[in-house]
Amino acid sequence: MMAGVGYSKKVMEHFMNPRNVGVLENPDGYGKVGNPICGDVMEIFIKVKDDIITDIKFKTFGCGSAIATSSMVTELAKGKHVDEAIKLTRNDVADELDGLPPQKMHCSNLAADALHEAIKDYKSRNMKK
Ligand code: FES
Repeated sequence: MMAGVGYSKKVMEHFMNPRNVGVLENPDGYGKVGNPICGDVMEIFIKVKDDIITDIKFKTFGCGSAIATSSMVTELAKGKHVDEAIKLTRNDVADELDGLPPQKMHCSNLAADALHEAIKDYKSRNMKK
């Protein structure tokens, strides 16, 4: 059964119980992106050890889909090598959630893009060391 208008059960579940919400003090990488379509904003914080993402949190001013996709992206990225995590795409995230309604696909960009920004930030900080 679909809960809500065209949302999968997984989307609803992550929306109701989002994982990894919050802020990390002194993150090793930080990414922030705005969604030009709706104006919503997403921030992602990562802790990295030996190029593995050991902790990740997100904060968003976004819709339910943005919350669900961020929750899923943090779950997917945690424990991954940064070079693996940077390959996660918005489609991977939507697939893991059993799909998003087409008019909501743009919301999944926020989560994946913010993760990519956080990893790029981590990499650029490390190059300076
Ligand atoms: Fe803005 Fe979904 S409507 S992220």
